[in-house]
Amino acid sequence: MDAEEVVNRTEVVKEVISMLANGPAEKWNWYYRTRQFDEAIELKAQDAMLLDFDYENRNVMYQCINDRFARKAPIDYLEFGVAGGVSMKHWLDINPNPESRFYGFDSFEGLPEDWTASSPKGSFSQEGIVPDLQDKRVRFIKGLFQETVEPFLRIFKPRNKLVVHMDADLYSSTLYCLMHLNRHLLPGSIILFDEFNSRNCSDECAALADYCKACHRDFKMLARREDNMKVAVEML
Ligand SMILES: C[S@@+](CC[C@H](N)C(=O)[O-])C[C@H]1O[C@@H](n2cnc3c(N)ncnc32)[C@H](O)[C@@H]1O
Repeated sequence: MDAEEVVNRTEVVKEVISMLANGPAEKWNWYYRTRQFDEAIELKAQDAMLLDFDYENRNVMYQCINDRFARKAPIDYLEFGVAGGVSMKHWLDINPNPESRFYGFDSFEGLPEDWTASSPKGSFSQEGIVPDLQDKRVRFIKGLFQETVEPFLRIFKPRNKLVVHMDADLYSSTLYCLMHLNRHLLPGSIILFDEFNSRNCSDECAALADYCKACHRDFKMLARREDNMKVAVEML
């Protein structure tokens, strides 16, 4: 390679570095989160039960988790992100144990931040109206998680196997809840994620990874849909 070619190549490398450095931070985060998934989570995914279902049949996974890990025992089910109550209703039907307790957290005002291009701030809003699911075992805790979860956890006394359903989509909301729930997430507790690897693993998946890192926790993946969008994990 002659001197001129070296200069040319150096210029190309400089150009590429500058393009990368000045690209949007979100793209960098996506790249980092995808690598984090590939390096730290994919191995766990390989051991998980593979379930085949489409979005409308999410209850296939709920049913499987309930049948295998809760069986007929009562559960304490905490759902973060309830909206119109579709997934909460599935769980009420799947687990009819009268001793089970179901808590649903939501502002019912929609996402507090922009999420994907098709789900901006306010998406999934129920205009503040709480769903009427006609089941005495359910209690809704209305408001932003950042305002309701701490006061709730101060008085919550777990009684049964804990099943947590994270369906708030956002990194911030998911991480906030996991960090606050930490002392209740005993080994054997189950957490379901509804949008696990959306936006290049930068929301729910990233929140789980960061929570585990910060709190020195680990998990086993129990079940997943083939595309890793819906997953169920068990805390170790
Ligand atoms: C995808 S929807 C839930 C869908 C529901 N689980 C179902 O299956 O039909 C997400 C919900 O999370 C709620 N949410 C997200 N972040 C929140 C936060 N920080 N505080 C309160 N609610 C939040 C939104 O209001 C929205 O209703």
